Amino acid sequence: MQWTGLNELREKYLHYFEGKGHLRLGSFPLVPKDDPSLLLINSGMAPMKKWFLGQEEPPRHRVTTCQKCIRTPDIERVGITARHGCFFEMLGNFSFQDYFKKEVIPWAWEFLTKELEIPADRLYISVYQDDDEAYDIWTKSVGIPEDHMVRLGKEDNFWEHGSGPCGPCSEIYFDRGLKYGCGKPTCGVGCDCDRFMEIWNLVFSQYDSDGKGTYALLPKPNIDTGMGLERLAVVMQDVDNLFEVDTVAAVLHHVERISGKQYGANEKDDISIRVITDHIRATVFMASDGILPSNEGRGYVMRRLLRRAARHGRMLGIDHPFLTDLVDTVIVSSEVGYPELREHESYIKKVIGTEEERFYKTIDSGMNILNGMIQHLHETNKKILSGLDVFKLNDTFGFPLDLTKEIAAEAGLGIDEAAFHVEMTRQRERARAERLAKDISGWSEDLFGELNAEPTAFDGYDVLKETAKVLALSDGEELNDAVSTDYEERENVLVVLDRTPFYAEMGGQVADHGYLTSGTANLKVNQVKKTPKGFYVHTCTLLDGTIRVGDTVTAAVDEQRRASICRNHTATHLMQKALREVLGEHVHQAGSYQDDKITRFDFTHFNAVTPEELVEVEKRVNEKIFAALPVTIQNLPIEEAKKMGAMALFGEKYGKVVRVVDAGGWSVEFCGGTHVKNTAQIGCFKILSEASVAAGIRRIEATTGYGVLNLLDDRTAELANTAVALKANNMKDVAARAQAVTAELKEANKQLEIAKAKLASSQIDGLFQNAVEVDGVRIVTVYLNGTTPDTLRSMMDKLRDKEPNAVGALIGTDGSKTTLAVGVGKNALARGLKAGALVKQIAAIAGGNGGGKPDFAMAGIRDTSKIDDALNAVEGIVKENLEKAN
Ligand code: ALA
Repeated sequence: MQWTGLNELREKYLHYFEGKGHLRLGSFPLVPKDDPSLLLINSGMAPMKKWFLGQEEPPRHRVTTCQKCIRTPDIERVGITARHGCFFEMLGNFSFQDYFKKEVIPWAWEFLTKELEIPADRLYISVYQDDDEAYDIWTKSVGIPEDHMVRLGKEDNFWEHGSGPCGPCSEIYFDRGLKYGCGKPTCGVGCDCDRFMEIWNLVFSQYDSDGKGTYALLPKPNIDTGMGLERLAVVMQDVDNLFEVDTVAAVLHHVERISGKQYGANEKDDISIRVITDHIRATVFMASDGILPSNEGRGYVMRRLLRRAARHGRMLGIDHPFLTDLVDTVIVSSEVGYPELREHESYIKKVIGTEEERFYKTIDSGMNILNGMIQHLHETNKKILSGLDVFKLNDTFGFPLDLTKEIAAEAGLGIDEAAFHVEMTRQRERARAERLAKDISGWSEDLFGELNAEPTAFDGYDVLKETAKVLALSDGEELNDAVSTDYEERENVLVVLDRTPFYAEMGGQVADHGYLTSGTANLKVNQVKKTPKGFYVHTCTLLDGTIRVGDTVTAAVDEQRRASICRNHTATHLMQKALREVLGEHVHQAGSYQDDKITRFDFTHFNAVTPEELVEVEKRVNEKIFAALPVTIQNLPIEEAKKMGAMALFGEKYGKVVRVVDAGGWSVEFCGGTHVKNTAQIGCFKILSEASVAAGIRRIEATTGYGVLNLLDDRTAELANTAVALKANNMKDVAARAQAVTAELKEANKQLEIAKAKLASSQIDGLFQNAVEVDGVRIVTVYLNGTTPDTLRSMMDKLRDKEPNAVGALIGTDGSKTTLAVGVGKNALARGLKAGALVKQIAAIAGGNGGGKPDFAMAGIRDTSKIDDALNAVEGIVKENLEKAN
């Protein structure tokens, strides 16, 4: 087997499985989608659970990927030994209800032994204890000798990770030789020592586990395989561990350069170098996938990794922030496989740089304090750091709990974790109380939890202005502009009313805007939301005055804006009906949005909607607008509504009584939104765009009323500007002017081509000035810098046309490659000279090779230092060929 770089190994693997009918997909992001069971993607199969379970149709039933993974169970061990890293890449081939054991086993074997040429006698196989089928395939079909096979129990050979698809597996081990062994007589596959290294896990994924011990048999089995790319590279590069693999070592060497320490010189420094190397790799990928350091979830993992790395930097004696410098090396080593890294380069640096700068300010004082605490414990013979101390380190100096725990453990001490969490909870409560007034996203039922009142009555279907009573305020009993000098605070005042004409954001329709006024205060309403218990919360700016709980206010909706929203909403209904008529009954709403500017409608449909279909939809909607259909609204028992044929949202649950919006009997829908009273009020309807949002889902954006007028104004202004730019006399002439200008341009280009051709022909004449004559054949040789193969070809055509006795040998370099072109004129051809033969002989002098036809041939030149030698040899070669032909 041959040394192979990690990036090449990845490519070989994916390429091999593409050859077996697999679709190659890029790595999924590290952040799981719709999978709350997982903090970070930790295996190749994790992002594909729905395909394994048959809950979603995969893009193909055979897929291959290289997945970026992070595993975090024992971060504090990473670096201490060289065996583990948090970050790794996992190669995998997957079958979703397609092939099974008898295909995947021989493929795995072929890839390792044929493609990578790993000697068969160094590979060992384990199978699940009762899996005779896999055992037989390995021994009988593949031919593995029995002494290279072991059967292991559930512990080793049943793969599952939390909940989801899982099953018995078969693992492939590489024997690294005696020098890695523990020497015990029992040493073999499954031993804890480093001799037999597991490289590939083939999972026969046939169960769905709920993570609590129940395994449901899947209707059809799958294949899930996982091979650690770094581990494979350890084998192929014959190195000791992952930190010595080429791409990882590049980062490690950079850490050495920054710290001035040499890896391998002493164990303590080695630990720090490995910690930094692994953690910077992990966090660069995390940042690239949009994770930000924080105190919770993934963000906490990222913060912990970065701060742990920063601390180890200090331990190496690095006295400045340095992590950002390493980002480049990580990107350079991995960008072939993950182009997103380069794309997000500056963002990644910003995220990591900001976090490091922040911690850098406090790390030294924090370390001093912590060392003091540790010393004090030692002196007083105590073993546990108090919760309050751990909290202080966290709160004031930014030491994540786990970092403190790790440092304490290094000093032989424990920490009082429970007490720390109590402190954290207390602090959170303090912070929450402070934040409530400001944070509109923080409002929820419990903010108004003690409200002893009926839910807010919504009157906004019928009236746009009414008096109401203030039930609650975000800041307590009273709020006034003098106390709240902080404008931010005055911006996010939350007001709950006993009744309101304001529509709260719901079902795709945005909330109303408007004003609340009392005798003593003016508030502008910017947002309205309804809490699960039915209280309408108005987010307002307190413009001036004082507002108190119990005050009576006039609540007035911005009528113009509401009218525009209504136009867009009713138009959405008409559009849905028209789409179903034009495209078919398969069209269902998949999402919608209406504000005062546009309506956006997402629907199920598999192809792009054609321009003709769009015109037809637009036409039908406008017909219904111009027909001035009355829009009526009724609350009906759901059965009755269904009998009317009212359209409901796909998969939505409704109560017993539903609100039905009926536009002239043409469009009838369940809907809680606000609408015009007659379709004529919509004025006009215009589609702005049509696009795909997801597989099988299209999106149309459209506008109505004033939106159409604004569009017309904008387009007219654009046309007027274009007319000016084209120097057209008026807008009607724009098209004719554009045509004329294009024609002028075409003519000018033609003239330019003629001029260029003349120039080229005089260049050809120039070439003949240095021609050498051999027995009536005129030989032209020249080296041209900055010339493409195409240009060489056309020059040669001209040269041959001009001089039937010519033999031309032109060498050109176009920046990246150097090419030799040989041409033979008609008479020279008749004398027995052949371009194909000449090109081979000439090119050989400069380490090149090529071929072609008798009158024209080309060759690539490898050794550019031999260009002159090659050209000087042409005369002799032609002579020799002439003699041979005679
Ligand atoms: N999903 C299996 C693993 O991660 C292949 O080992």
